[in-house]
Amino acid sequence: MTSAVMLALMVSGCDKISSDKVDLMDNSLSSHNDSSHDDSSTGKTTTKNDSENKKNENTSQTSQITTQAAADTAVTSENVNGSTDLVQTQQNKPASDNNGTQPPADINHQESEWWQEAEPEATYIGGILIANKTYALPPTYDPGCLSEDTNEAFLKMQEDARALGLNLQNNSGYRSYADQKRIYEGYVALDGKEVADTYSARPGHSEHQTGLALDLNSINDSFADTAEGKWVAENCYKYGFIIRYPKSKETVTGYKYEPWHIRYLGVDTATAVYNSGLCLEEYLGITSQYSD
Ligand code: DAL
Ligand code: ZN
Repeated sequence: MTSAVMLALMVSGCDKISSDKVDLMDNSLSSHNDSSHDDSSTGKTTTKNDSENKKNENTSQTSQITTQAAADTAVTSENVNGSTDLVQTQQNKPASDNNGTQPPADINHQESEWWQEAEPEATYIGGILIANKTYALPPTYDPGCLSEDTNEAFLKMQEDARALGLNLQNNSGYRSYADQKRIYEGYVALDGKEVADTYSARPGHSEHQTGLALDLNSINDSFADTAEGKWVAENCYKYGFIIRYPKSKETVTGYKYEPWHIRYLGVDTATAVYNSGLCLEEYLGITSQYSD
């Protein structure tokens, strides 16, 4: 492994979280030798009680895609389970003050004009903000930090883990579009595009840009075998998180197994996804594939 690629990123424009420079070589690039990839920034914490989103207890279903006004965005389990209004898009609006399972209530969706269509829109499927290989976020989607719900849930999980003698750290939280661009391009330079695409999201396609995902502890496959990794796999849903890129779901999620990457969905939805045994794409009946 060459040490030619040294990437550092400054994270978070939020005053509620600290900014740390993180040497990616020390974190993910060095773990590359162990077939583990991701990258680092740090999101930290404040707490606030936001209402838990009320979501479905259902399992996999096929989502029909429509675009609709944000005023119609109160997506419930009934929607996920078969309505025609499962997918909504909105332009450039972060969901930093909620759990990412529905757009902010104050969004005034406008009919797209030709000049607005130049940028992709944030996509909600079944009320869940999606960033994967099929659905991109615009560069301007910039919550600046982890959402408050996500942050609070992580802190609670960390506290409960600590009481059991387990040490959970947020290794990489929110990342901007520009952060992800640097990271992805570093990996492409290192491994080539085809391989990089198996473990690093292209800019606009990373869940870290949503402010609803974070990487725990060691960005390495070995995390799964640690006491912390095992506990997280079995318990993170109780705090509203899922292991976003599970083992054996690589062809569905589009990414290799990442035992360290957790995505906040809220307790109800995370529990439903966990109990289903499905990855998020299967649960929602969506794809994760680049168009090229
Ligand atoms: N490693 C995940 C897929 C990301 O880059 O967001
Ligand atoms: Zn990650």
